[in-house]
Amino acid sequence: MAGPTRNFWDQRFAEGDTPWDRGAANPQLGIWLVTDALKPCRILVPGCGSGYEVSMLAQAGFDVTALDYAAEAIARTRGKLGAEGLKATLVEADALAWQPDRPFDAIYV
Ligand SMILES: C[S@@+](CC[C@H](N)C(=O)[O-])C[C@H]1O[C@@H](n2cnc3c(N)ncnc32)[C@H](O)[C@@H]1O
Repeated sequence: MAGPTRNFWDQRFAEGDTPWDRGAANPQLGIWLVTDALKPCRILVPGCGSGYEVSMLAQAGFDVTALDYAAEAIARTRGKLGAEGLKATLVEADALAWQPDRPFDAIYV
């Protein structure tokens, strides 16, 4: 059975119906960073949503590529990075079809 479509996610963002969005990065990511379980590397964040983890990883010195097929998710991530003076590569694409130009060291989902 097929999962949610791009239109489904676009609609959720458009309606502000985003109950998964905790307004901050997943606390587990912070634990992995302070314990050095995850060290700076080239990392992909597929389905980045509002970009909280993208921001935390960029702040910690990772080379981050954030990918989402919802334009609003990419816009939110871009806005957050800009407000914080951080940089990441942003890709608006379907994670199931997109091909990176070179491999990643890690993927955060
Ligand atoms: C439940 S939200 C989670 C967002 C974020 N990871 C978080 O934890 O707050 C799922 C996100 O994945 C994106 N997404 C789902 N399927 C995707 C796909 N095939 N390609 C790109 N993005 C996708 C949606 O647009 C949405 O932003």
